[in-house]
Amino acid sequence: MKKILIIALFLSIGLNVFLAYTFLVKGDTMAIPNDNRVAIITTKENKDFVMAEMRGFLETVKAINDGMIENNPEKIIVAAHKAGGAATEHAPAGLLKVLPIGFKKLGFDTHDKFDELAEAVKSRYDKDQTQKQLSSILGNCTSCHQSYKFETKQ
Ligand code: HEC
Repeated sequence: MKKILIIALFLSIGLNVFLAYTFLVKGDTMAIPNDNRVAIITTKENKDFVMAEMRGFLETVKAINDGMIENNPEKIIVAAHKAGGAATEHAPAGLLKVLPIGFKKLGFDTHDKFDELAEAVKSRYDKDQTQKQLSSILGNCTSCHQSYKFETKQ
């Protein structure tokens, strides 16, 4: 009887570790031949949501850059805030589950960095600092693009 309980306990621990790994760390991913990126397999709805967010990111980067050229801190604050953490609130249910942990970390860190940029400009606008912060954000864009792509499933 005791033996059965111990075996059951280990099976249960094993299953939990497997589930935690699958849902929290690995996501729904697949290696792609002849490509250094990992494919994230998801529905069209999830992909469309992330791609719309991406196009928003690019618009924000342009608006921040325009704000620096025009010396218009208000424009920078509004744009950076749009791409900050508030943007993640409307994510479709089930999206987070398919994303591997590396993607989630970079994604959340990018939203945080936009918030930090907005806060810094709000407290004191310094063009050099904004430019450095924007460059660090662009580093997140490029490193994620080098690591992941999306594939849809029906
Ligand atoms: C956490 C990962 C990640 C970060 C951070 C990220 N991207 Fe992306 N982005 C992706 C992936 C994955 C794709 C889709 C690539 C593919 O499937 O070929 C993509 C696609 C795009 C696209 C194409 C959108 C479309 O409609 O097809 C644009 C534009 C883009 N990203 C801009 C940006 C910008 C600008 C930033 C930084 C401010 C950024 N991305 C940060 C992962 C990321």
